[in-house]
Amino acid sequence: MANFINQETCKKCKLCIEICPVNIIGVDSNSLVNFIPERESICLKCGQCMAVCHTNSIKIEGYSYEKNFLKLPDNEVDYEKFINFISSRRSVRNFKDKPVEKQVIKQILSSLDYAPYGAEPNKVEITIVNNRKIIENSLPLVEKFLDDVIKWVDNPIVSRIIKHKKGIETFNTLKNHLYPMSKLENYKLKYGDRITRDAPALIIFHAKKNAEEHTNNALIYATYAMLALHSAGLGGTMNGIMPAAINKVEKVRKIFKIPEENEAIISLIIGYPKYKYQKAIKRDAKKTFWIE
Ligand SMILES: Cc1cc2nc3c(=O)[nH]c(=O)nc-3n(C[C@H](O)[C@H](O)[C@H](O)COP(=O)(O)O)c2cc1C
Repeated sequence: MANFINQETCKKCKLCIEICPVNIIGVDSNSLVNFIPERESICLKCGQCMAVCHTNSIKIEGYSYEKNFLKLPDNEVDYEKFINFISSRRSVRNFKDKPVEKQVIKQILSSLDYAPYGAEPNKVEITIVNNRKIIENSLPLVEKFLDDVIKWVDNPIVSRIIKHKKGIETFNTLKNHLYPMSKLENYKLKYGDRITRDAPALIIFHAKKNAEEHTNNALIYATYAMLALHSAGLGGTMNGIMPAAINKVEKVRKIFKIPEENEAIISLIIGYPKYKYQKAIKRDAKKTFWIE
């Protein structure tokens, strides 16, 4: 490992020892604060030791103070401001006929650099489809996929196979969510694009099927991106239909160039909101159990 502590500048405050989530820093036999060689392999690369160090004495492999660390900003968001921000966000499904500038999307995606992640390194990959025509090319195939959901759920043998192969969570999402919508022709293209809602761009979060924690990490990325959209005056909606279609329909996968060995987790349709909501919605749907 190329982790390193500069002993000339280290003040031995030991904050890095206290902060490290996996206890890979200690005091060595020379009374120096140092990485513990036999533990370094479990470094999470979280960078917290470098961030807490007053004298910039720590170097974690792959990180540099110049590239990865910023002057700590003042946090001006108190609880009330935070609630105002998140409660003024809506899933936006009506967009202005206006493309999203590449620079703006890049800025949105920059916010993901501050996201937490389970299991190092974060292996989520992101495909940005900033081309309405390409999104449209996929729609007839996605429509067909949604029609097929009806057949699959109605067929007890296919249902059993889906439950067995994809798990009960996926099956219940198909049966209790997509199936009734498909039955009512909710997504039929003859009514317009109710799948991606004429969004000018689509962001797909995917990862190698065997990558650790990729589902959780992708959802955290998507959540950050959605909040970043809101902060930048754009809007978006998480879309679970496109990933399901990508994972099932080879031609859809090809259109979006998602690698064969990857699984799509979640997607976001994005654009400039056409309408302004007049109210925030407070749902109170959570179940809480307190143990005190
Ligand atoms: C995992 C996930 C998947 C979703 N998939 C879709 C989708 O395919 N189509 C859609 O219109 N909305 C989708 N949504 C958006 C929800 O319907 C939306 O969050 C919900 O209606 C609440 O509205 P709000 O976000 O404005 O509070 C999804 C949300 C999540 C978290």
